[in-house]
Amino acid sequence: MTRSTSTRPPPIMTRDLLRVADLSSSEIHGLFALASRLKANPGAFASALAQRSLVLLFEKPSLRTRVSFELGFQKLGGAVCFLSHEGTPIGARESVHDYAGNLSRWADAIAIRCKSHALLERFAASSHVPIVNALSDQHHPCQALADLFTLVEHGHRVESLHLAWVGDGNNVCSSLIEAIATIGGRMTIISPRAYAPSQEILRAANARAHRSGAQIVCTEDLGAVAGASAIYTDVCVSMGEEAIAAEKTAALTPYRVDGALMRQAGPHTTFMHCLPARRGEEVTDEVIDSPTSIVLDQAENRMHLQNALLVSLLNPEVALAARREPSSHSLRHQGTL
Ligand code: CP
Ligand code: NVA
Repeated sequence: MTRSTSTRPPPIMTRDLLRVADLSSSEIHGLFALASRLKANPGAFASALAQRSLVLLFEKPSLRTRVSFELGFQKLGGAVCFLSHEGTPIGARESVHDYAGNLSRWADAIAIRCKSHALLERFAASSHVPIVNALSDQHHPCQALADLFTLVEHGHRVESLHLAWVGDGNNVCSSLIEAIATIGGRMTIISPRAYAPSQEILRAANARAHRSGAQIVCTEDLGAVAGASAIYTDVCVSMGEEAIAAEKTAALTPYRVDGALMRQAGPHTTFMHCLPARRGEEVTDEVIDSPTSIVLDQAENRMHLQNALLVSLLNPEVALAARREPSSHSLRHQGTL
């Protein structure tokens, strides 16, 4: 784990968050520190984003991401405008360039859930306000950051963390790979070869891992869960992949997380899932409803982590001041605060 040893708070966020690799290790630790303070003392931040506005553009369905961005931003005193693009894709009615240019005149930030990561990059290139990736086909950075924050909050130390991803090497998996590669720890991706993470993601992660000391390994062997701090899985078929649903489900069914696999991992292994889950498909009821499951903590922390991100982007003075204040939270004892 690379950790800031100086007494100065880590730097405030860069402009867009399209993928976790846009962040440095100290920026990620800074977000964890601020998220912890926002969660512990929400009243102190009730007007942190007063007069600020956030627009959400979603081409795909959502529960957690939409609600956590909308209610989260309102809890900070800001205004939110949701535009559904489930019927009309972004860029169909007017060019992406014109759309981004118009929204930049009214909004202070834009969060986008879209089918194509390339579209997100084009949108960001034309926007004059920060763009936050609220899920693309390739990345889900807010999810992965909230997940690692949740593990740290549950007492896991990054340097001794072993995250076992079981199933499809998809967008959530890619963002977790980038996060571990950046801050350190160990991640084992256990999937059939056809659904392993992309080579581009693995190459970039391994380059980062040289600096952070992270270990990223891919295997088809389910036995690699042994001793894992956490097993994480996601749906076999992501949004937009309906045409290949049957073949993906068939290939990934042997990778279902059930009680036997959890026992193989060990008595202290936590279960994680970004949700929504297809119960009985990638995970059994027995596992997702067990005391080892932290899926609702993950869901709650989406809001706190995203709020930390938005305060860092839109009111950096408040973010810096908050991070200078003493904290009694347990993250402090792990060197994150
Ligand atoms: N985990 C997550 O992003 O959930 P939604 O698709 O419901 O937003
Ligand atoms: N991999 C899933 C994540 C949903 C939050 C999807 O893209 O549909």
